[in-house]
Amino acid sequence: VPLDFQEYVPEEMLTRAREYLHEISRRRSVRDFSARPVDPVIIETCIRAAGCSPSGANQQPWHFVAVADAGVKHEIRLAAEAEEREFYSHRAPVEWREALAPLGTDADKPFLERAPFLIAVFVQSYGVGADGAAIKHYYAMESVGIATGFLIAGLHHAGLATLTHTPSPMGFLNGILRRPANERPFLLLVVGYPVPDATVPAISRKPLGEIATFV
Ligand SMILES: Cc1cc2nc3c(=O)[nH]c(=O)nc-3n(C[C@H](O)[C@H](O)[C@H](O)COP(=O)(O)O)c2cc1C
Repeated sequence: VPLDFQEYVPEEMLTRAREYLHEISRRRSVRDFSARPVDPVIIETCIRAAGCSPSGANQQPWHFVAVADAGVKHEIRLAAEAEEREFYSHRAPVEWREALAPLGTDADKPFLERAPFLIAVFVQSYGVGADGAAIKHYYAMESVGIATGFLIAGLHHAGLATLTHTPSPMGFLNGILRRPANERPFLLLVVGYPVPDATVPAISRKPLGEIATFV
């Protein structure tokens, strides 16, 4: 089929690249969510955008579960906090805990109930054919990572805050969300509005010279 390619003059390309940088540089992980509701159609639209991500052999090895139900969010919070308590008290190696210390995170995750949406992202480590046979997936982790990036960028673009959350381990999500054995939890995105006086850790970004090499 013909490619739907939109060309811009170089000045406009630069303007667009700068505008994108400006917008995406304002994205921060938020941990103080308000309970303000969010229109589910916005979430659905952002998931559709994530579904436009490239994927190994176009296998689209992702599944997104958008959770708004208070009872299910409560179950997820309880299970995540149980894992996080283990993690922060002894499971995490000392270096890992030291790396997290500046962020001030701990085992309490009230936002898992307070935020209007949780999006559990699953990676399909293998597919399942009509005959029930396993289908090998290529670059599933990479593909789902890219799709999740599209999702986070889309939610930010729509005016929502997110937190990338990875309770460790998070196999409990399969049970609570009734996902099949070929799917593994990839991460949990907390989505909503920040509280009006939300703060974020003071962090810095590595400069271009450190993150890129032009040859
Ligand atoms: C794969 C991944 C896992 C993360 N897991 C957690 C988490 O479990 N809890 C948390 O509070 N933040 C988590 N974060 C958020 C990071 O701490 C955050 O992205 C980082 O400190 C940079 O801050 P920023 O997102 O505001 O730019 C995670 C981020 C990524 C990409």
